Amino acid sequence: MGGTVVSPRARLVGDGVENPANAEALAEAARMFAVPCSFRDSRGLAEHLPELSTVDTAALLGGAGPLIAVDNAPRAESVYRAGTLHSGASIVVGNERRGIRPDVLRAAAKTVQIPMPGRGVNTLNVATAAAVALYYLLDAHGRRQARAPRPESHRPTLLLAVPRDHVEAGSSLRSAAAFGWQTVVVDDREKVWFGTPRPVRNEARAAARSHRNPLHVVPGGDAWSSPPGSRVVVCAPDVDGPPLHRTELTGPGTVLVIPDGDGWEPRPGAEFARVAVPGAAGRYRLLTGIVLAEAARQLGTRTAGAPRPPRRGMSYGSGLDLTAPPDTDLVQPWELTHY
Ligand SMILES: C[S@@+](CC[C@H](N)C(=O)[O-])C[C@H]1O[C@@H](n2cnc3c(N)ncnc32)[C@H](O)[C@@H]1O
Repeated sequence: MGGTVVSPRARLVGDGVENPANAEALAEAARMFAVPCSFRDSRGLAEHLPELSTVDTAALLGGAGPLIAVDNAPRAESVYRAGTLHSGASIVVGNERRGIRPDVLRAAAKTVQIPMPGRGVNTLNVATAAAVALYYLLDAHGRRQARAPRPESHRPTLLLAVPRDHVEAGSSLRSAAAFGWQTVVVDDREKVWFGTPRPVRNEARAAARSHRNPLHVVPGGDAWSSPPGSRVVVCAPDVDGPPLHRTELTGPGTVLVIPDGDGWEPRPGAEFARVAVPGAAGRYRLLTGIVLAEAARQLGTRTAGAPRPPRRGMSYGSGLDLTAPPDTDLVQPWELTHY
C-alpha cells in the first residue's frame, strides 16, 4: 500500500488507524505527494489489508528524521505557519477517535494542527487531514498573505460540482463545515446526496457528521447559477492556471467550484486554480480538503481584540432553534437580508 514512488523528503505514518477504508484513503493521500505510507498497526488493520506496510514503535520513535505529529492537540502550532520540513521527517496522523498516541506526541519535534473555525465537528477525516498537512508541510511554497480581521465578509460561495461518490461527498461536506462554511451548494447530477436510497443516504450523512454539523446543503445543478457579476474560480488538479495557494480564493462575489473529475463543464469566463501535487490526483475528499484549507487560510481568523464589524441592516435574535425535515431548505436568520 505504500506505493512505488518513494521520496526521501518525508513519510506518512498512520498511528492506530482502525478503519480499513480510511487506511486506503491515507495511502492515497501519500501517493498524491509521492511519499511512502506505513502504519503503526495497533488496531488489527493488517487482518483486513494484508499488503499493509507497518512500522513498529521502536522504528517509529527511533527513526532518523524528526517526528511531526499532526493533531489538534493543545498548544499545537498552525500548519499554515509550520515552515518547510527537514528531509526524512515522519508525518504522523492518528486514530479516528483517540488521535495520536501520547508516546508520539511526547517524542514529536513539532505538533501541528489545522485550524478549524467551524461551529460543529472540529476535526477532519484522518486522510483529509493528512493530505492538508502534506500540502502545507511539503509543497505550498510562496503563499498569498492571509486576510484578517474580517474573514466572514470575504468567505466565498462553495459549489461541489458533480461528486461521484456519496461518502466522498459527505466527507467533503464535513470538511466544509469544519472550515467554517454554513452553506454549501452541491451540483448533484450523479445523485449521491439528494433523494438517495436510505442506506446510501445514511452513509453519506454519517461521513458528513450531519447530526453534529449545522450545514445548509443547497441543490445546485441546472437550477442554480452563480449570482450575476460573480467571479468563478474552478479548483482542480489538471487545469491550466496558477497554483491554488497563489490564487485569490476569497472576496465578496467569489464562487469556488471544486469539480469531481470532468463531469462539470466550466462556464465561459471562469478562472482556474491548479491544485498541483507531485504524485497522483487523489480522491475527492482529499482534493476538497486542500482547497477548503487554502481558502480558510486566505480568509484568516479574526485578530484577537479586533473590533467586530458594525451590524448593517436588520438584526435578529439568536434564540431560535432551527430544525428542518431532511433535504428541505433551511433559511438561517442572517440569510433573510438577501430576500
Ligand atoms: C478524527 S481525528 C481524531 C479525533 C480527535 N483526537 C478528537 O479531537 O476527537 C483523526 C486524526 O485526524 C487528524 N486530524 C483531524 N483533524 C485535524 C486537525 N484539525 N488538525 C490536525 N490533525 C487533524 C489527526 O491526526 C487525528 O489524530
